[in-house]
Amino acid sequence: MHAVGIVAAAGSGLRLGAELPKALVLLGGRPLVCWAVEALRAGGVDEVVVAVPAPQQAAFTAVLPDDVHVVVGGDTRTASVRAALAAAREHADAVLVHDAARPLTPPEVVARVLAALAAGAAAVVPVLPVVDTTVVVDPDGLVTGDVARGPLRRVQTPQGFDRTTLVAAYAAAHGSAAEFTDDASVVRAAGIPVHTVAGDERAAKITVPHDLALAELQL
Ligand code: C5P
Repeated sequence: MHAVGIVAAAGSGLRLGAELPKALVLLGGRPLVCWAVEALRAGGVDEVVVAVPAPQQAAFTAVLPDDVHVVVGGDTRTASVRAALAAAREHADAVLVHDAARPLTPPEVVARVLAALAAGAAAVVPVLPVVDTTVVVDPDGLVTGDVARGPLRRVQTPQGFDRTTLVAAYAAAHGSAAEFTDDASVVRAAGIPVHTVAGDERAAKITVPHDLALAELQL
């Protein structure tokens, strides 16, 4: 199986409060995007395409290894992944889409996703259980209901797909008004079953400054 990794790195990272795009912020002296690329490779991905913000394309190219393909992303994560998918080579059987914002994802998570694809799944996501009591609140902040947390899962990346399935799902979603926050939602909207494998707390997403501080401690 030949696997291409796509790293979505074209976000601004406003919630992190950095002046740089989030994927260029340093963790242990290395930009987040470099950690994400390394995690994919260490887990068994053969080549990597990274979607970056247009104004910082040169800055990304300067920090990424020479054999990483850099493309300009879009205004939404979906648009960024679409651009990277168009650049992914057609000889690839599998595509793994990963957030640059999950730098400390262990290679074992990548390997579990690849193994599920090799076993025949067309779509697979790493997931973790929900451990907190989970409720629904109304616009005034009043709790209006409980949610049984047993069947709930938090979804991480990398998310893995059969390449032709992902390309077809993205084509079908083009022009849709739906807002997709990940790639498995795009594939599910096309009616494809999405399988799960165990995620890992270390694959947590860096969103606010506290997350970055925790990641530094983890190192
Ligand atoms: O904003 P959020 O943290 O959910 O973004 C998840 C990932 O998607 C990040 O790695 C970010 O760089 C990427 N992204 C992107 N293009 C956008 C917005 C977000 O590649 N337009």
